[in-house]
Amino acid sequence: MPSTKNFPQFPEPIWNEDTKLPKFGPLNGNKSVDVAIVGGGITGITTAYLLTKAGMTVALIDAGQLVNGTTSHTTAKVTAQHDMIYDELISHIGKEKAKLYYEANMEGLEFIEAIIREKGIDCGFTREDAYLYATTDSSHQKLKKEFAAYQKLGIDGDLVSEIPFNIDVKSALVMRNQAQFHPLKYLIPLIQDIQASGGSIYENTTAIDIQTNTSQPVVVTKQGWKITCNAVVTSSHFPFFDGRGFYFTRMHAEKSYVLAVKAEKEYPGGMYLCVDQPTRSLRYTTINGETYILVGGESHKTGQGINTIKHYEALQEWAQSTLGIKQIPYRWSTQDLITIDNIPYIGRISSKHDNIYVATGYRKWGMTTSAVAAKLLTNLVMKQDNRFKDVFTPSRFLADPSVKDFIVQNTDVAGHFITGKLGMKYKKIDELSNDEGAVVKVKGERTGAYKDKNGYLHLVDTTCTHLGCECEWNSGDRTWDCPCHGSRFSYEGDVVEGPAEMPLKKVSLDQQP
Ligand code: FES
Repeated sequence: MPSTKNFPQFPEPIWNEDTKLPKFGPLNGNKSVDVAIVGGGITGITTAYLLTKAGMTVALIDAGQLVNGTTSHTTAKVTAQHDMIYDELISHIGKEKAKLYYEANMEGLEFIEAIIREKGIDCGFTREDAYLYATTDSSHQKLKKEFAAYQKLGIDGDLVSEIPFNIDVKSALVMRNQAQFHPLKYLIPLIQDIQASGGSIYENTTAIDIQTNTSQPVVVTKQGWKITCNAVVTSSHFPFFDGRGFYFTRMHAEKSYVLAVKAEKEYPGGMYLCVDQPTRSLRYTTINGETYILVGGESHKTGQGINTIKHYEALQEWAQSTLGIKQIPYRWSTQDLITIDNIPYIGRISSKHDNIYVATGYRKWGMTTSAVAAKLLTNLVMKQDNRFKDVFTPSRFLADPSVKDFIVQNTDVAGHFITGKLGMKYKKIDELSNDEGAVVKVKGERTGAYKDKNGYLHLVDTTCTHLGCECEWNSGDRTWDCPCHGSRFSYEGDVVEGPAEMPLKKVSLDQQP
């Protein structure tokens, strides 16, 4: 059996290995700009790049550091092959809109490639074929339907009978001429361009509200500074401002895991995704002359996994039998938001607000979608048309296919709200080993405990500061994760990822029994 000794003790994405992003100070005063952008991932940066290029004044703020969220934890497949989606889209939104979804993402890919060529960015961009593969008869039947959808939509693809790995596949569906790249290397020249065009960038600046009762929207930061603007773009993963769009009822969060492996076997090229459970994803990247295979998968709803180290171990075992492992220098996890109809929400945040825009719910396919969002939001801010706006508008209402999933997801959330508080087995604090976390009781209250490597105990109130669900321990990342909308907190309670803005309450040591 593989042992956890074989992969790094702490999670760290591979993209930081050879790339240092520029650093920016926090906002330290009030500001007035054309557009405030909240969230400095690939969507926020690309939108700021396009708007400053068009002559607008922009302030881009991030609660932490730029590109430190989902963008730095991606596997960075730049593809319109978003798992199996096109057969589902044709049945739910019709052939015409399904085709627009495909074209929007292919235009996103081409947009990224055009920027890379124009600026001569050395970011390991390569065109690769993307494969979905089935290992069971039932998923083989689904791939056949997906292939029929490709044919209806004119997608360049084929159904083949094998992939170049020692995996017993029933069939595989190829989408030709997709791409992959190094996301951080791609973004650095865009950040430099934003600055050169007069855009302002602030890190460690948390937006907590948007005042809408004035003639212009005003973004208010935790430190009390205000950014007055004509339009606000929120690209902060889960929207920090809801605007009566009820996003917390319309999305759920899923975690997945990645290992960067130096393999025994030579990698044949291409990007691969297994459509059966447990999911498995493959691509390669070359960093400092070394080839690494990114082995991903093990998705589950946030805060509902088994001991999360087990997910890395499962990937390790699979990588060993599929590729042969020489070394695993990196491991990390990522979190994605899934909308109720599997189509991202990009556009006006709600009918209540004309000049506040959102991009969220990318369902693990953030590279092409970020380009779709940046172009669409730029057009909306500049009052220009965009032929894809109706496909992605957050105000769409589709009873089918979402109603059932919607109910399941929200029942699930409600279940966590209640059972998290009531039906729970507690560990005793003195049963904790060093470097172990668990839910315990302190003075009768549900409390999160983590005993660090030196035996020091860190206690927090596990009640999520977003809307009150109960967080669960994530042993792989040593974080407290909320199953309801995906907020994550360090073992000391600090916010690692929103929508929560406030830390978990610390429980003091003198409260211990
Ligand atoms: Fe919404 Fe925790 S993230 S309740």
